[in-house]
Amino acid sequence: MTIRELQDKIIKLKKETNTAILAHSYQAREIVEIADYTGDSYKLSVDASKIDADNILFCGVHFMAETAKMLSPEKRVFLANGNAGCPMAEQMDRDYIAKIKEQEPDRTVVAYINTTASLKTVCDVCVTSSSALRIVQALDSKKILFIPDCNLGGWVKNQLPEKDIMLLKGGCPAHAAITVNDVMKAKNEHPDALFLVHPECVPDVVALADYSGSTSGIMDYVKKSDRAEFIIGTETSISEHLQYEYPYRKFYPVTKDLVCKNMKLTTLPDVYNTLLGMDNGEAFEILMDDKLIADARKCIDEMIRLGG
Ligand code: 13P
Ligand code: SF4
Repeated sequence: MTIRELQDKIIKLKKETNTAILAHSYQAREIVEIADYTGDSYKLSVDASKIDADNILFCGVHFMAETAKMLSPEKRVFLANGNAGCPMAEQMDRDYIAKIKEQEPDRTVVAYINTTASLKTVCDVCVTSSSALRIVQALDSKKILFIPDCNLGGWVKNQLPEKDIMLLKGGCPAHAAITVNDVMKAKNEHPDALFLVHPECVPDVVALADYSGSTSGIMDYVKKSDRAEFIIGTETSISEHLQYEYPYRKFYPVTKDLVCKNMKLTTLPDVYNTLLGMDNGEAFEILMDDKLIADARKCIDEMIRLGG
């Protein structure tokens, strides 16, 4: 079967089952093409809260599908590949964070959305990479604990010196692996290109950027720019999507190794098999009890209330 034939079967099946497909921008091209909603983690959270369908099929990683379930608890939510987790989401111990909160009750706990639902229950507000700066700035509280990504948290801290931001050691293994050497090599190969980077990269790498911001921030920057060449310092799929969108401009991944293995676990056959298996227990459904949803979604609601 060709990719196009499988995509057509998926499109037919999603209509028959009244399923909306959400795909994060780090998903492969052939998956993004059959999705009803695509974008970064903030956009997909908002989309999930407004969807009019019986089922949501998430192509991304576990915490994203969990967020969709919390925002649409009445719907069945499925993750296309049940093994796709985000290592960063598992990095912080819930009890340890609860203890810091007990010791410093005036410190607002800001959680990157890349966290488990269980950890979200002890956090005050969520942020995504596109909203972190805006939300931390908008908080009344001066004292913040930002978890789990110390690179994203440090990027916010540098821009908000008036806040007392405490960081813990955590982060994205894929983005944090990019080195200054990788960037210098790419810049030497493409001297006319601008370097756009995700703030999950280490500070020395971000310091070399012409622009730093979230996945959607990088895509918007390209849209508004009149430049022809860009080195992209985030997951390689973003370079690929941008190349399709702007065929006459050039996009170079900062290194071909900046691949999120978890995001790339999902395949088109996974999407098809999930649609086939939704009613016979063979698909990976996100199941959460009502109390966990109620406790964990408070900080997501707070993020949405503060305007993302
Ligand atoms: P965005 O918030 O830019 O979607 O990023 C999510 C993510 O997992 C980045 O590694
Ligand atoms: Fe998690 Fe990093 Fe993959 Fe994003 S790119 S899902 S933070 S491991």
